[in-house]
Amino acid sequence: MGRIVAGVGTSHVPAIGVAVDLGKTQEPYWKPLFDGYEPAREWLSKVEPDVVILVYNDHGTAFSLEVIPTFAIGVAREFPPADEGWGPRPVPIVKGHPELAWHMAESLILDEFDITIVNEMSVDHGLTVPLSIACGEPKEWPFPVIPLAVNVVQYPPPTGRRCFDLGRSIRKAVDAYDEDLKVVIFGTGGMSHQLHGERAGVINKDFDQRFLNDLTQDPQRLVELPHIEYVREAGAEGIEMVMWLIMRGALGDDITEVYQNYHVPASNTAAGLIILENNS
Ligand code: DHB
Ligand code: FE
Repeated sequence: MGRIVAGVGTSHVPAIGVAVDLGKTQEPYWKPLFDGYEPAREWLSKVEPDVVILVYNDHGTAFSLEVIPTFAIGVAREFPPADEGWGPRPVPIVKGHPELAWHMAESLILDEFDITIVNEMSVDHGLTVPLSIACGEPKEWPFPVIPLAVNVVQYPPPTGRRCFDLGRSIRKAVDAYDEDLKVVIFGTGGMSHQLHGERAGVINKDFDQRFLNDLTQDPQRLVELPHIEYVREAGAEGIEMVMWLIMRGALGDDITEVYQNYHVPASNTAAGLIILENNS
């Protein structure tokens, strides 16, 4: 039987990846942020997941306005890094877990989540930056990764409730897998940020910190939040945070928060990180 043992929520700011790749993590601007990642790295290296399900959003790299899947699962053996802006990061190729990924696709679709199945896909900073945050700079990523992409770029993104329910269905799928696998699920993106227009640079510490706390204390409040509230309170790109609710939905009611970190600013965003262990 598969088991989701924990969830990790983290930002994916591309400049964090660039700081890692260019050896700038000990510079005064970046050091406080990276110091905050150390306990999370230690925790993950002790947990040693067999597989990570990484919920993220693509930024016009693998998908474009030509094709916009609301939810998509990568079932390939490998996913090469690629990116807009700074270009592909010099990080290891991401190895998939086709067996669990196909099982999840079947289970989710039979559970009425009609997820798009992707056989070939590159992965951008939305996926590789959370891996760098969690693992540093290994020669190979220490676990296979199942990419689960969510559309939060082109309106309309999925609702928070739909995301949470998808998380529940993911848990059901993993529980029904016939091999013993220790699975950690990542929900990534955010936190408050807006990259364009008059409100470019908006950061809302209160909103972000309440969001972090309510993942543990009141996830139902977060499930009810309408899109407009993310956009109003946390900026246009703050909507990326709905992806954290997929991670939360994949955990049970009985969870323990083992770590939380919040740092402002990282590039144009607030960078949050949370680790939730699943007790049920
Ligand atoms: C930034 C943040 C993002 O989430 C992104 O996709 C691109 C840029 C930023 O803060 O610079
Ligand atoms: Fe982003």
